[in-house]
Amino acid sequence: MSNRYDLVLKGGTVVNHDGEGLRDVGLRDGRIAAIGSIDASAAGEVVDCRGLHVLPGVIDSQVHFREPGPTHKEDLQSGSRAAVLGGVTAVFEMPNTDPLTTSEAALADKLSRARGRMHCDHAFWVGGTRENAADVADLERLPGAAGIKVFMGSSTGSLLVEDDEGVSEILKRTRRRAAFHSEDEFRLRERLGERVPGDAASHPVWRDAVAALRCTQRLVAIAEAARARIHVLHISTEEEIAFLRDHKDLVTAEATPHHLTMSSKDYARLGTLLQMNPPVRDAHHRDGIWRGIADGIIDVLGSDHAPHTLEEKAKPYPQSPSGMTGVQTLVPIMLDHVANGRLSLARFVDLTSAGPQRIFGIAGKGRIACGYDADFTIVDLKRRETIRNGWIGSTSQWTPYDGVSVTGWPVGTVVRGQRVMWDGDIVAPGLGKPVRFAESLG
Ligand code: DOR
Repeated sequence: MSNRYDLVLKGGTVVNHDGEGLRDVGLRDGRIAAIGSIDASAAGEVVDCRGLHVLPGVIDSQVHFREPGPTHKEDLQSGSRAAVLGGVTAVFEMPNTDPLTTSEAALADKLSRARGRMHCDHAFWVGGTRENAADVADLERLPGAAGIKVFMGSSTGSLLVEDDEGVSEILKRTRRRAAFHSEDEFRLRERLGERVPGDAASHPVWRDAVAALRCTQRLVAIAEAARARIHVLHISTEEEIAFLRDHKDLVTAEATPHHLTMSSKDYARLGTLLQMNPPVRDAHHRDGIWRGIADGIIDVLGSDHAPHTLEEKAKPYPQSPSGMTGVQTLVPIMLDHVANGRLSLARFVDLTSAGPQRIFGIAGKGRIACGYDADFTIVDLKRRETIRNGWIGSTSQWTPYDGVSVTGWPVGTVVRGQRVMWDGDIVAPGLGKPVRFAESLG
């Protein structure tokens, strides 16, 4: 193969649907043009990938970037900077901004704010509400929309559809897979008194495992009645994993790195920094979610990157907001699980590229295959690093993993053929584009 390429990734171990092997990858016009042994003499640029693994670009299908609204926590530019510093090539951003992303105009506003500023490719979830339920079939198919997202339990922001009838009105109309924050709002209200002022460890006591399971059971029943495809975000209990085994025809599920890595023991060390919804729980839940990874119940990893400033997090519980940064640490934290033998590299790739492509119908991404977008997460599986707040590109500038040492590190992020991050530096300006989906190509 001696065609002209804009860029050749030379000598890396490519991980794709074929397995792992030493291969070069030739990129042209933002797409993958050749895979194999490539004569790079006529290439515009050659990147030496010897000793590195070349993975399909990591797609994080759950982040909160706060723009428009509380941009002192994050904005689309800073959030996407954090993403590419962490090896993430595309993000799906959540609708609980201010104003909420619940209309065509609000989606158009986000897309225009993203243009020329976001470093990675992006899609935006549209919030499903009682008010826009009649319009969700149109809203979910707008270019740049990831689909409809519904909060059944209240969290940051005012989006909430807590009752079965409200959820049913939405799921009767969706044709794409809709995503859910699944915690039973009625139970959360009943149990508000379980919160212990000043003690973030009471967060999972208030928002208990029953609240998560009960809501997921209600949600699945509604989806089955409507024959609607759904996606349950950030699974936090072993019981939901056991329950979802029997519902994989319609239901997909996400796990977060923090639910797979932390447990309630960590509240003593991290306090409100660990506070998020649904909560990090006892270790048996963490082990149950790992079984969900091993058994294929979990389809994707999402970071649920939900930044708040350290000042806001320093408020005494429960005034402290829920959420932590995560988009930049997803790859290193999960590669550390690969290094420890808890996760195979193939399954990591499945969860972060092929998985999102399959369940959300992403067009032209999620595989290292000719004709696909040239998105790559290039990693050094042997590199040992200590995660530090100073490395964090988010405006909120902290991570619950400050001081944690990992083996496995993202050294390069390539978005549609353009190197945007190399060895910790942003090397190209914001060139992110909207992600395209099979169901809204027109
Ligand atoms: O802890 C959380 N924070 N969970 C959510 O669902 C929302 C998020 C946020 O936006 O802060």
